[in-house]
Amino acid sequence: MNIFVDSKMTDDQRRTELYRGSIFVHSPSQSSLKFCELARAIIEEAFYPFDPLTVHEQLPAEKCAAILASAKPRFIHHPEAKTQIREMLTELGCELSRTYFDVPRLRTAFPGEYLRSGIAYAFHAHRDTWYSAPFCQINWWMPIYELDSENCMALHPGYWNRPIKNGSSGYNYHRWNAESRHNAASHVKSDPRIQPRAEEPIELEPEFRLICPVGGAYQFSAAQLHSTVPNTCKVTRYSIDFRTVHLDDVLNKIGAPNIDSACTGTTIGDYLRASDLSHLPQEAMAVYFDGSELLYALAPTA
Ligand SMILES: [Fe+2]
Repeated sequence: MNIFVDSKMTDDQRRTELYRGSIFVHSPSQSSLKFCELARAIIEEAFYPFDPLTVHEQLPAEKCAAILASAKPRFIHHPEAKTQIREMLTELGCELSRTYFDVPRLRTAFPGEYLRSGIAYAFHAHRDTWYSAPFCQINWWMPIYELDSENCMALHPGYWNRPIKNGSSGYNYHRWNAESRHNAASHVKSDPRIQPRAEEPIELEPEFRLICPVGGAYQFSAAQLHSTVPNTCKVTRYSIDFRTVHLDDVLNKIGAPNIDSACTGTTIGDYLRASDLSHLPQEAMAVYFDGSELLYALAPTA
């Protein structure tokens, strides 16, 4: 596994490396810093007059979950968020007419057991490819406030080419959207929603914790095993993540190897072209469709 810091590689070369399990770390840039500013403004307004970093000392978890349930979608769908992703991709040499991204997520990790489920789900070790992500998906992760090694995300590269017995065969993204996704904020103390997990003991060590400055971002393959580090700090962690795919890799089914994912469905319909926010062409989505997208299309989403 290689970790490239501020690499000058082309995007094509970089994706090839990512599909081999490498990680790319990028220093803060004008656009990534603006992106973080936008996220901070939304978070700080939502929790006002409390400090978002210590809000868990001020508010009951239920109240905090309710605030996040309204603040997170505001960030996710803010037009400036898409603008800043586009700018970041431009700065890093991605071809906007062939690069697609999904809406960015705002993640929170609260200290201890305060709020670890639903809207602030603390992710157990997983690969995104267990959750119907295509094998060409690349994840981008960036802290919004100063990051602490006791309060970040961890990568477990020992499992890059080591299969794990897991529950992904029971997961279908379209069913998840139809049945489970909408009620995240109602799960404050526990989360009964079925998610793919390892079904054998896994060794989380050795792990990598990449501690970027605010606005620093790192990229890794969706097939990389990763997890939320249990927050043993006194402050809450806020981070942004989003995902990209490249049209050529979707069409040619290029990406990381599949060593243990058996989920059905696909997130391929979620990505928007960086240049004009259009969806992937039908023939590209068809590469990943397996029929289940039709099965759940009419399911109620209330
Ligand atoms: Fe993930």
